[in-house]
Amino acid sequence: MTEDPYAELVPLGTHHPIWDRFFWVAPLVVIGTREVNGDFDLAPKHMAGPLGWQNYFSFVCTPKHATYRNAQREKAFTVSYPRPDQVVMAGLAASPRCDDGSKATLKSLPTIPARLFEGVLLRDSYVYLECQLDRIVDDFGVNSLVVGKVLAAHVHPDAARREDRDDQDVVRDCPVLAYLSPHRFAAVRDTHSFPLPEGFSR
Ligand SMILES: Cc1cc2nc3c(=O)[nH]c(=O)nc-3n(C[C@H](O)[C@H](O)[C@H](O)COP(=O)(O)O)c2cc1C
Repeated sequence: MTEDPYAELVPLGTHHPIWDRFFWVAPLVVIGTREVNGDFDLAPKHMAGPLGWQNYFSFVCTPKHATYRNAQREKAFTVSYPRPDQVVMAGLAASPRCDDGSKATLKSLPTIPARLFEGVLLRDSYVYLECQLDRIVDDFGVNSLVVGKVLAAHVHPDAARREDRDDQDVVRDCPVLAYLSPHRFAAVRDTHSFPLPEGFSR
């Protein structure tokens, strides 16, 4: 008789979300939007990233968040990729709102203005994107996918890939922030070339 390959595994019931039962790697970005009163909002998102090979960016949100409603109304959002030493700032952007609906902690976060839209980005992040809303796809349970087209992109010189520098050295000198969901993070410094198969092409 062959051994049951599932015998020793822990089954995860799928009537409840499974994503907090083990660690998985995600990026951590800060999404910037403009509030209805003209203030700027920043909020961290880890379910986020490029959508395909062209210049689309998407993040998971919910209509309960101001970020969703702001992006829908203003048809634009910004994306900042914070560095590992900015993780506290990224976390502060998730602070609860005051009774008057404002997020007081945002006032302590350093920002730079967006170039194309009325918006801000988290200063000293290593990548800045400005996105025009492309569409929102609702009803993944309580969540929605907010999709934008990247219309402006800037990368800090120490994070930019260059022909005269080894990729490994770029990442070592400018570590990347990884979010290890749930509730952990890491600074990724030591990296290796991926073992692509001979003849690989996407
Ligand atoms: C580390 C971290 C990651 C988060 N990732 C997401 C995410 O991917 N999607 C999401 O909808 N909310 C995420 N959140 C929660 C919201 O971004 C957060 O509650 C936000 O402050 C809502 O603010 P808003 O109402 O101004 O949009 C995350 C929060 C933290 C602390």
